[in-house]
Amino acid sequence: MAGATLAAGAGWPVVAGASEGREPQRKPIPSSGERIPVIGMGTWITFNVPEDPDALAVRTRILDTFIRRGGGMIDSSPMYGRAEAVVGHGLRELGHPEGLFAATKVWTRSTATGREQHKKSRELWGVDTLDLQQVHNLQNWEAHLETLRERRAAGELRYIGVTTSHGRRHDELERILQREDLDFVQLTYNILDREAEQRLLPLAREHGVAVIANRPFRRKALINQFQGHPLPDWAAEIECANWPQFLLKFIVSHPDVTCAIPATSVVAHMEENMGALYGPLPDAEMRSRMVAYVQDL
Ligand SMILES: NC(=O)c1ccc[n+]([C@@H]2O[C@H](COP(=O)([O-])OP(=O)(O)OC[C@H]3O[C@@H](n4cnc5c(N)ncnc54)[C@H](OP(=O)(O)O)[C@@H]3O)[C@@H](O)[C@H]2O)c1
Repeated sequence: MAGATLAAGAGWPVVAGASEGREPQRKPIPSSGERIPVIGMGTWITFNVPEDPDALAVRTRILDTFIRRGGGMIDSSPMYGRAEAVVGHGLRELGHPEGLFAATKVWTRSTATGREQHKKSRELWGVDTLDLQQVHNLQNWEAHLETLRERRAAGELRYIGVTTSHGRRHDELERILQREDLDFVQLTYNILDREAEQRLLPLAREHGVAVIANRPFRRKALINQFQGHPLPDWAAEIECANWPQFLLKFIVSHPDVTCAIPATSVVAHMEENMGALYGPLPDAEMRSRMVAYVQDL
């Protein structure tokens, strides 16, 4: 894991973390027991860049930082414009590093187009087997889940699931969790958006479904809201040096959350975010303190 190395002479900065010999925090996927790093990365907007050498080089450095710091899951979707192609470009540049957990989605009303998207995604990422494919925003989910199960049986896919965000369609998601045999569900969960704690996270635990938390920073709004305020002194007890780490550790310390997928277009931000993969996670008492602290800001 985290064995990615750059082509010799690339001259990119050496980063700390995995290379310091510390083990990243991991959690198991309930359906298999496979343990994955609790910090993944998103690609919406941040990786939808044109065929511009400078923009592509920055994304490759972000990917390299992510993998070298011990990251695993990269989340994308055909909905994200060029993001899958840009991820694929970066992975090729990096020599297809070990440790990648390739997670993408199917996003179309058409069942036939969904089949094509599965094939296209494998080509764009440059992988024979996708680790995870999810039905994006529950669109045409019944038909797509059938396709995904077929592809899983054919060995082209390892795990299947569905996604939502922004707290939308939680009732429907609840029914799907009760009825379908899924490996993963993706939903919005962060320190201010905690509705999922009521029913969806307990249901995911009951049915043995891994949970990916999207929008960990509410698309930067949380960082903008809190960054003018100091971190509490006790954040040092869980090795949080900045607000992004505080926000990410809150999310992934929920017992029913498997990983969070913050997105960034800045190498230094990726460095900060990956710091949340190391050191202790808050316990239930500290999680309550974290919520109380931000509510007063
Ligand atoms: N329905 C779905 O399936 C669904 C819906 C929403 C999201 N998602 C997935 O979840 C991922 C994450 O959600 P998101 O992209 O909406 O929002 P997010 O991860 O909550 O926030 C991304 C924003 O945070 C900023 N940021 C990241 N790290 C930072 C740092 N250390 N310091 C300061 N700013 C930082 C980024 O700006 P910079 O570029 O300046 O760093 C970016 O604007 C998506 O990319 C996507 O993969 C899935």
